[in-house]
Amino acid sequence: MDHLQRVQQEFTRQASQFATAPAVTRGELVQRFVDAVPAGADSVVLDVACGPGIITAALAPRVREVVAFDLTPEMLSQARQRCTSAGLTNVTFREGSATAMPFADASFDVVVTRLSLHHFQHPAEPLAEMSRVLKPDGALVLADVSSSEVAAESELHNAIEILRDPSHVRMLPESELLDAIGAAGLVVQQHTQWHEAREFEEWVRIVNDPDRVSPLRTVVRTLARLGQHAGTGWSMADGKIVFFHRWHLIVARK
Ligand SMILES: C[S@@+](CC[C@H](N)C(=O)[O-])C[C@H]1O[C@@H](n2cnc3c(N)ncnc32)[C@H](O)[C@@H]1O
Repeated sequence: MDHLQRVQQEFTRQASQFATAPAVTRGELVQRFVDAVPAGADSVVLDVACGPGIITAALAPRVREVVAFDLTPEMLSQARQRCTSAGLTNVTFREGSATAMPFADASFDVVVTRLSLHHFQHPAEPLAEMSRVLKPDGALVLADVSSSEVAAESELHNAIEILRDPSHVRMLPESELLDAIGAAGLVVQQHTQWHEAREFEEWVRIVNDPDRVSPLRTVVRTLARLGQHAGTGWSMADGKIVFFHRWHLIVARK
């Protein structure tokens, strides 16, 4: 199975759980992203790897049009339902891969993408595509989770993420994330970062595959007890396995 097939298979399984998971739908988290988007009533916005349309639906009331783009039909179906329920009429839905997008050069005022970069085999390709479809002076708003700058911690962290979700490729260390955005011809204008507290059981519930949970729980509980935090804070608190995701929210101009 190639990588894009694996992404589709995985996000078909995850779609309904992901669409309602507090870790990605929490109002303050969504608002923080929306507040960073430099868009107005005339803006045309592309949401790359839109998933179930959480960001799409939050942005649409503020702009002229949002194009919601994703590889996984089941995710687009979730996005359509969310936008229909919200009474939104300025959203269109397109299926395809961020590595080769069916949009003309310079066709969007703003491109947004949240929690997508770590699913791309070669992040330079989709970032170049996002830059290509932006108008001159357009803005990319990107949020993703980073891994440690310590190579061994980053490798361990990403290996555990892949055991949970085989469509995960790599959460980049912050320095690589910023370099990749610069290499796409974009200039970072704002960059905020913070830790989102996570708990093992809610994190694994989202992937909706009970067979993965038991061996993974054993591995991360053992790491936590041994003090091997993998740069992501694996530890025990009140009998629960806890950790954090280090989020980055970046606004970059073409
Ligand atoms: C973790 S979800 C994030 C969804 C949404 N952006 C959000 O933050 O709520 C990742 C999404 O990326 C999509 N995806 C992964 N690789 C893709 C690709 N090459 N092209 C388009 N979409 C892709 C998946 O189908 C999935 O919907």
